[in-house]
Amino acid sequence: MYAHLRKIIFWIGPETSHLLIIKLLKCLRYIPFAKGILRLSFSIHDKNLEREVLGIKFKNPVGLAAGFDKNAEIVGELNCLGFGFVEIGSITPLPQPGNPKPRVFRLPADKALVNRMGINNVGAKAVIKNLHRCRAKKQIVVGGNLSKNATTFNVHAPADYERCFALLYNEVDYFVINVSCPNVTNLTQLQDRDILSQIIDRIINVRHYRDEYKPILLKISPDLNTAQLDDILNLVREKGIDGIVAVNTTVTREALHTPAGKVESIGKGGLSGAPLTAKAVEWVRYIHTKTQGQVPIIGVGGIMTPDDAVNMLAAGASLIQVYTGFIYNGPGFVKKILKRLKQEALWTQPSLP
Ligand SMILES: Cc1cc2nc3c(=O)[nH]c(=O)nc-3n(C[C@H](O)[C@H](O)[C@H](O)COP(=O)(O)O)c2cc1C
Repeated sequence: MYAHLRKIIFWIGPETSHLLIIKLLKCLRYIPFAKGILRLSFSIHDKNLEREVLGIKFKNPVGLAAGFDKNAEIVGELNCLGFGFVEIGSITPLPQPGNPKPRVFRLPADKALVNRMGINNVGAKAVIKNLHRCRAKKQIVVGGNLSKNATTFNVHAPADYERCFALLYNEVDYFVINVSCPNVTNLTQLQDRDILSQIIDRIINVRHYRDEYKPILLKISPDLNTAQLDDILNLVREKGIDGIVAVNTTVTREALHTPAGKVESIGKGGLSGAPLTAKAVEWVRYIHTKTQGQVPIIGVGGIMTPDDAVNMLAAGASLIQVYTGFIYNGPGFVKKILKRLKQEALWTQPSLP
């Protein structure tokens, strides 16, 4: 069924179809019983799928990755599509338009996307308003993925993260520091120890003054080398960062089936989807082993099938997220994964190395 619908969706430009889907899902709010029908069709409730991670209870371990609902417009509707949690953002303190269009491209031969959105979003204050509008009764776990404004120089980045963090503190259940987006100039340099250290110190300091403890995770790039990743893992341990989201999109273009000319004509951007599967699982396994299973990992990158989801959890992820797989497989994708996880003993807590 979705295979036919996808032909129409893929006939429209990627960003336009994305905006249309968001509008469509928002409209469902005003149609009686529509959300109930969505929930009946796409979600599974099962005690065996529940999981407690980061001190938070998730109704299932499958989340929507950052970048899909950047502005927190459809959190309630995504809940009806079966997700166990939704990561909103990336959010910056001030609104920003992102990079010039076109900035998202499909590579169907590779089941992949290339994007250079550039963290377009409506800014922290407007996101909070949206969240109040669409997240009835806090019925789903929401993570806030934070970044800095593109116009903010890296030396001033800690203040941007701190501002977003403070504004959103009472609005979301966990936070992700995004220093790994390849589509904002020099943003990935924030993965360097000194500046990352400053960002972490600033936001942990804000948390000290709050009554409720909100976990802070770090989202990393698949393009780090092992020494850089080790450095980050040391910092995570030293600072008491609560978890890691692995991984963001990659700037590499290895072993693609799409003709090289087409890939080249697309230009810069982060690649996601099937070409990322092996690397993401490898990184999750590496982090899980290095941290002796002590640091919760949200595994994301190239989960395109229920088998990929099982592999990611078996590699050591406590939770998983999908984005490109959701685009290629459609709204039934979460249910498909959850059905498979119900059959698998594997999705229960991964064994320590
Ligand atoms: C169009 C698009 C926009 C994205 N925007 C963000 C973002 O704003 N912040 C972020 O941390 N990750 C962003 N991502 C990365 C995803 O959250 C995810 O880490 C990556 O796509 C790998 O997962 P996937 O292979 O399942 O898509 C974006 C991805 C895509 C495809």
